[in-house]
Amino acid sequence: MNKRIIILPGDGIGKEVTAEGKKVLEKIAALFVHQFEFEEATIGHDAIEKTGTALPDESLAKMRTCDAILFGAVGHPKYDNDPTLKVRPEQGLLKMRKELGLYANLRPIKLFDELLGASSIKPEILKGSDILFFRELTGDVYFGEKVKSADGNTASDLMIYHRYEVERIAHKAFQAARTRRKKVTSVDKANVLESSRLWRETVNIVAKEYPDVQLEHQFVDTAAMKLIQNPRSFDVVVTGNLFGDILTDEASQIAGSMGMLASASVGDKVGLYEPIHGSAHDITGKGIANPLASILSAALLLDISFGMKKESAALIAAVELSLKQGYRTVDIADPKTPKDKVLNTQQMGKRVVDNIGAKAGQDMTALNTGAFVASVS
Ligand code: IPM
Ligand code: MN
Repeated sequence: MNKRIIILPGDGIGKEVTAEGKKVLEKIAALFVHQFEFEEATIGHDAIEKTGTALPDESLAKMRTCDAILFGAVGHPKYDNDPTLKVRPEQGLLKMRKELGLYANLRPIKLFDELLGASSIKPEILKGSDILFFRELTGDVYFGEKVKSADGNTASDLMIYHRYEVERIAHKAFQAARTRRKKVTSVDKANVLESSRLWRETVNIVAKEYPDVQLEHQFVDTAAMKLIQNPRSFDVVVTGNLFGDILTDEASQIAGSMGMLASASVGDKVGLYEPIHGSAHDITGKGIANPLASILSAALLLDISFGMKKESAALIAAVELSLKQGYRTVDIADPKTPKDKVLNTQQMGKRVVDNIGAKAGQDMTALNTGAFVASVS
């Protein structure tokens, strides 16, 4: 197949990890005889420096016509404590999500057995955890009206959902659940919020079309607790933009490290794939960032946007094999990891590239995103 992929490195470690994501895609193309054409585009602080805006029209135009996007991260510490700066890196990300109609953000929480010891949660609680989050991505308080009073003493962000926004993501979640353990947990705060009551009412209506899938509702505070108390009790979780942002950072600890978590943002047309970790300026330029989240995002890209199941599975198997061989980046190493097995970003990327196609005799596991693929394309 011929495919055009936009690499969107963005800021901080985004540049370092997408470079490795690109290398694994090149290896897959060579091995499975595909033509992948790569082009770069700019976003975030990087774009502000180059063009004065966080998402130049040129970047957006490239993305509208490509087959898939591999994205790094946006953000820069200079904006974090300075509310006077009106042009901000995150605006680029939010605008991109909205403009490309990327309303469903899939965040699979898949724990590789090799990393059972890397989490701060007890191994016996974690073992076998496999959760698929559907975070709504283009609504909620992220996109509701923002107001600051004239005297500067009051500010508000409108938390708003429209029925159709809840319906479309709920359908995606139920469809995916059908190919997994047939359970959906919908997370809201319906005991307090009107927008959550609409969310719950809508999910209940959609659920009628999926009588074979078990639906439960949880309040977000309870869900936050249950996630670390009993992660295996979750299969598919569907929730709004803000709750999904917070809960998936928490859930990343089930997978050992933020550095392991990939995500897929899909919706109207083109799919965008990105690690859930941010730009991480504290480690930028040190070469120690974990590239596996970007590499696993590339695996999601192959699976969901290109329908390349074998290729995606081969890539995930290569990650698994690299971990089995004992290789770790510093975020997933433990005191027992031998020094020569602790790799930097590029070394880990190369290790995975070299392991693609290697026969390790183990089963290939997938990130288990289910039939979602068929329903996006
Ligand atoms: C994420 C990030 C973004 C979000 C930030 C960078 C705006 O935390 O993708 O989870 O809040 O959505
Ligand atoms: Mn986040």
